[in-house]
Amino acid sequence: MTLLELEHVDVFYRDLQATFDVSLTVDEGETVAIIGANGAGKSTLLRAMIGLTQCRNGRIRLAGEDVTRLRCDLLARRGVALVPEGRRLFSSLTVEENLLLAMARARKGPWTLQRVYDLFPAMKEFRSHRASDLSGGQQQMVAISRALLTNPRVLLCDELSLGLAPKVISEIYACFDGIRKEGVSIVLVEQDTVRARSASDRLYCLLKGKVRLAAKSSTVTPEAIREAYFGETRT
Ligand SMILES: Nc1ncnc2c1ncn2[C@@H]1O[C@H](COP(=O)(O)OP(=O)(O)OP(=O)(O)O)[C@@H](O)[C@H]1O
Ligand SMILES: [Mg+2]
Repeated sequence: MTLLELEHVDVFYRDLQATFDVSLTVDEGETVAIIGANGAGKSTLLRAMIGLTQCRNGRIRLAGEDVTRLRCDLLARRGVALVPEGRRLFSSLTVEENLLLAMARARKGPWTLQRVYDLFPAMKEFRSHRASDLSGGQQQMVAISRALLTNPRVLLCDELSLGLAPKVISEIYACFDGIRKEGVSIVLVEQDTVRARSASDRLYCLLKGKVRLAAKSSTVTPEAIREAYFGETRT
């Protein structure tokens, strides 16, 4: 069943149009990657999905309900959670304080402190550290856990791998199997097309705010991705 649906979405920043006629779907339990170069409109789409940016045209539906004009906090209550670019933790609070804050407004569901410590066993070791003292990878674990603790139906992740070492990125991505087991849908925004492809069921490639390619991740060719990513055939 379709959980999240964007239909002909145009987003503007004042006069600048950032997305053009974008339509995409995310099924229940599905992982969908959105890839594209800098400025392609990936973060803009995620922000539209969680109500941080309004669409000028088009519709957004969540489980069949029209949520196009819904505020961010109301979308969160309905099960949309964002892991933002740059993590955005409360830096002066400890890891566990950051997590407890997220739980204060959580929906009912399977995710508890114990469950996120099971997902990231290392996090339990540094749970009393201040967020400002963590490495980038550790912060990312906390940011993902904080989003999960709201018990989302769909988890939106913006460039999880930014600034992290390959080994750390692999550790972070390993958590997705455990998240999918709970039936959570995942939208992954990534510039790393190889990782995006291997971590997703389907992918959309944006070029200058438009969907240039929509494909099944297991069968799409690197050539098709390259063509859509750069907008031209390269040899
Ligand atoms: N707050 C804003 N005000 C004005 N223009 C913006 C704003 N945020 C993004 N834009 C513009 O909208 C377009 C899409 O930006 P967006 O951040 O969605 O791209 P992106 O694909 O996430 O890029 P990146 O890979 O660099 O994160 C770009 O042209 C960008 O300059
Ligand atoms: Mg971005």
